[in-house]
Amino acid sequence: MSPFSNTQPSTEIATQRCIEPNCAAEYSINERLYVCRHCGSLLDVELNIAGVVGAETLKQRWAERRNSFDIKDRSGVWRYRELLPFAEGASIVSLYEGNTPLYEAPRCAAYAGLRSLKLKHQGCNPTGSFKDTGMTTAVTQACILSARTVVCASTGNTAASLAAYAARAGLSCAILVPHGQVSHAKLAQSLDYGAQVLEIDSNFDSAMRVIQELADDESIYLVNSINPFRIEGQKTVAAELLEQLDWQVPDHVVMPGGNLGNSSALGKGFSDLLRLGLIDRLPEITVVQAEGAAPFAKFFARETTDKGSKEFANVEHPQTLATAIKIAAPVSWPKAWRTVTSTKGRVLAVSEQEIADAKAMIGRDGIGCEPASATTVAGIKRLTSADVIRQHQSVVAILTGHELKDTDYVIRYHRDQLIAPGQVGDQPIKSTFANRPIRVAGTRDAILKSLRKEP
Ligand code: F0G
Repeated sequence: MSPFSNTQPSTEIATQRCIEPNCAAEYSINERLYVCRHCGSLLDVELNIAGVVGAETLKQRWAERRNSFDIKDRSGVWRYRELLPFAEGASIVSLYEGNTPLYEAPRCAAYAGLRSLKLKHQGCNPTGSFKDTGMTTAVTQACILSARTVVCASTGNTAASLAAYAARAGLSCAILVPHGQVSHAKLAQSLDYGAQVLEIDSNFDSAMRVIQELADDESIYLVNSINPFRIEGQKTVAAELLEQLDWQVPDHVVMPGGNLGNSSALGKGFSDLLRLGLIDRLPEITVVQAEGAAPFAKFFARETTDKGSKEFANVEHPQTLATAIKIAAPVSWPKAWRTVTSTKGRVLAVSEQEIADAKAMIGRDGIGCEPASATTVAGIKRLTSADVIRQHQSVVAILTGHELKDTDYVIRYHRDQLIAPGQVGDQPIKSTFANRPIRVAGTRDAILKSLRKEP
């Protein structure tokens, strides 16, 4: 029995609702569900805002909690607990997630054609990715529902995060990952946190399909982003970001897209803040994918140009070195679509070369991130060139994973050894901003001579 399970959430706080407007079926938040029982669509957790205090009181309360040492106040997710579907006294499973930095990135700004650019680094979460902000709420809900085993399919980060939170909660954990396609760092985390690591000889999408088949087993709780309680935690980044910006809404927020849970969450976060009167407009949210794994970008292109089928189509063989977002069939696309349309945002895809160079540029700002996160700066550069984002506008890019999640990629880039898999064979990546290691004799003279050389 988990030490965290015993709190029943109040059904008054929120309900689960089918996102399909023609169905809109409603369920209690105590029901262990992932999709609507009537029509199979995704579910939202809908907050009952009648019970929430006014906007100014909330802002003040959240600011004051920063001075507290209580984990519920210190966590950058639970600090905003008025936005979450849990009773005030609920026992939580937390690793002090959130509280991530918002950096000025002047070199990236110049590279992308902007006067200024801010990077919200969600890779600075406890397990090194944004997943922790959703895992704290999903695993808390797993305990409330008395689940014994938590499971997920993953390209690596969800798995590492779930493994850590399950370990904190004393729950058993199984993760399903595509064999040979997950970075060593991510795999190492899951092993160390004691998860049962199941490697399948296929891709992420097959793992996702299998995991959904397990979902009706009562003892198992599924925490991929179709789980609406994950989305609830992840949405709090909107509140934290706005707080860091003194509640000035940026013109654009740009983020990577894979399975599309994070873009669903950010959209929900901003829309909740708008409903509660904490902000008076929404930023335009742009989702960026890798060209070889871009079903959502292709869908957006068809929808906005009136060309081609209006059906969402998965891609056949996803290809990208940004393994975190190597996904053919994103399960949360309908919610992400809502984010993009309701914020008048957009979706685009960038090449492997653009991702690699943007990633190196983020490094030059002293920040660093994993390849998937660099799609953001690459995407912004494209959009400023096309005059969609203007030079003077306020822009925030969401970096989703820590640089040390995939050091093989970094070393290969700086040694001119990065090769991208293409549909027509392997494509070498040009190391435009390579910083090659220098072999030097271990003597004073040799080192000084090397230092005097032009970089
Ligand atoms: N960036 C990183 C570093 C990720 O790990 C992921 C997703 C994304 C972006 C895309 O986010 O799926 O919500 O659109 N990683 C998942 C995983 C799929 O299993 O770790 P998304």
